[in-house]
Amino acid sequence: MDLAGKNVVYLGGFGGIGQKSVQELLKRQIKALAIFDLSENVELLNEWKNKNENTDIFYQKVDITQKSDIEAAYKATAERFGHFDVVINGSGLLDDRLVDLTIQINLVGVINSTLIALGYMDKSKGGKGGLIVNISSVAGLQPTPLMAIYSTTKNGVTTFTRALGSPIHYDHCGVSFITICPGYTDTGILEDIEKKTTFPFYETRMRTVFNKVKRQTVEICAENIVRAIEKAKNGAVLMLELGEIHELDIPNLWNPQLNE
Ligand SMILES: NC(=O)c1ccc[n+]([C@@H]2O[C@H](COP(=O)([O-])OP(=O)(O)OC[C@H]3O[C@@H](n4cnc5c(N)ncnc54)[C@H](O)[C@@H]3O)[C@@H](O)[C@H]2O)c1
Repeated sequence: MDLAGKNVVYLGGFGGIGQKSVQELLKRQIKALAIFDLSENVELLNEWKNKNENTDIFYQKVDITQKSDIEAAYKATAERFGHFDVVINGSGLLDDRLVDLTIQINLVGVINSTLIALGYMDKSKGGKGGLIVNISSVAGLQPTPLMAIYSTTKNGVTTFTRALGSPIHYDHCGVSFITICPGYTDTGILEDIEKKTTFPFYETRMRTVFNKVKRQTVEICAENIVRAIEKAKNGAVLMLELGEIHELDIPNLWNPQLNE
């Protein structure tokens, strides 16, 4: 997708990966940008507005655990932009000691945001189609023992997004879906990990392994998120690891037998 002239919604746009991804998007001469986030970063928002006078940039306060916030934000965005072409669900929490909140933000929130956005974009309902990008994680590709709850929610995001990325949905609604799975990326989410794992570290190997995992910079991750959006193929799962984009081929383990 050529991003020039497109209307984009970014959830979590003031976060570590979000900020840098927004900056990459703004380099593409997008027409309009709505940032949905828990709290406003006024300084950054003004900087973006001043440097990008041709892009209509606005902020909507959204607590993604509140469905009414999500509904109000998309309604306001549709009224202001007319339509939106790309939605990036980039909000997230890593804190396995907060089980319900992690599930509400990472999984229920992403599902609600996706379905509400789809209501506006769905060609069968008068929308213009487009692309929905859900940010999962490498922890959403396999079980991650240190972060069992986070990993469960991210595996849910991957599966949900792959399911909607089926051609049966695309042929009906004209909206593509991709899953982005960043590897470890240097942001605040990885700080104070000892307080956020499912259980306190009870073995030195747990700390050693976590600390040894190689990380990518947030700038590299953001560049590749935007490249992945530009190359998006419906249903793709893209692992963004150490500066590279890998399109994953995830096999179906079950193929249903059909009654004749
Ligand atoms: N940093 C990594 O290593 C890494 C790796 C893989 C995936 N991810 C994912 O990338 C995304 C961005 O993470 P990040 O590393 O930039 O972390 P971050 O903590 O810097 O950003 C998280 C964003 O989510 C928003 N958010 C949190 N709770 C919210 C709520 N209730 N309502 C609305 N917004 C809320 C925050 O305000 C922030 O903008 C997350 O989905 C995260 O799971 C991060």
